[in-house]
Amino acid sequence: MPATDTPVTATSVTQTLHARRSVRAFADRRVDPALLKTIFAAAQRAPSGGNLQPWQATLVTGEPWQAVKDAVAARTAMGREGYEPEYDIYPKGLTEPWEARRFGVGEALYASLGIPREDKRGRLAQFMDNYRGFGAPVMLFLHCSRIMGPPQWSDMGMWLQSVMLLLVEHGLASCPQECWAMYGATIRRTLGLDDGQILFTGLAIGYADEDAAVNQWAVPRAPIEDVIDWQGF
Ligand SMILES: Cc1cc2nc3c(=O)[nH]c(=O)nc-3n(C[C@H](O)[C@H](O)[C@H](O)COP(=O)(O)O)c2cc1C
Repeated sequence: MPATDTPVTATSVTQTLHARRSVRAFADRRVDPALLKTIFAAAQRAPSGGNLQPWQATLVTGEPWQAVKDAVAARTAMGREGYEPEYDIYPKGLTEPWEARRFGVGEALYASLGIPREDKRGRLAQFMDNYRGFGAPVMLFLHCSRIMGPPQWSDMGMWLQSVMLLLVEHGLASCPQECWAMYGATIRRTLGLDDGQILFTGLAIGYADEDAAVNQWAVPRAPIEDVIDWQGF
């Protein structure tokens, strides 16, 4: 049972999986650190190869969070010159079916806000809201030792999904944000992380602004026939 009296709003794994969405507008409401502790304690149950538990996270709110936003804003103001990418967010030359999925989610996002393709400034402004964490009061930066490889990055993903589902279970919302990896060195410096750490992603955390248009749509998924090859059934 949770250590706080915050109501548990989703109770089965299936319900929670369906309820989780990337939320891109947050309410101006404080998050209880005791509740976050409960969530992170449970997320430690995430599996990892060899039980390495390679995930490391830095959680910010208030002044440290503002310091990250300010430092990254100074870099984004430099345009492309300001980039310090930690890794290629997408493979170069992304082909189908992945490119269509990526394009589709972007178009659906802008459509929800009524921003047409010609409105480049409007689209950029919406994208830049990423670097304000969409107004989230808490930001989690997920990183790991640079010595880790693909298996351990997959472990980080399992931990991340565990955290996101637990947040939903406790009435909270989140948005994973790998866009922060474009400014990895700035974030490391601001958070006091050593260069031996590599930043995977941010995770904006807070209560959803339930009325915001950007939170009103669900991203479709490919049918299971496209991803599972059943053999011997
Ligand atoms: C590791 C990771 C990084 C992501 N980075 C971003 C991001 O930088 N900005 C953003 O708006 N959404 C980001 N997303 C959200 C995805 O677009 C979203 O998960 C996907 O479209 C499916 O939608 P859903 O999460 O609402 O189900 C990220 C998701 C993951 C798992």
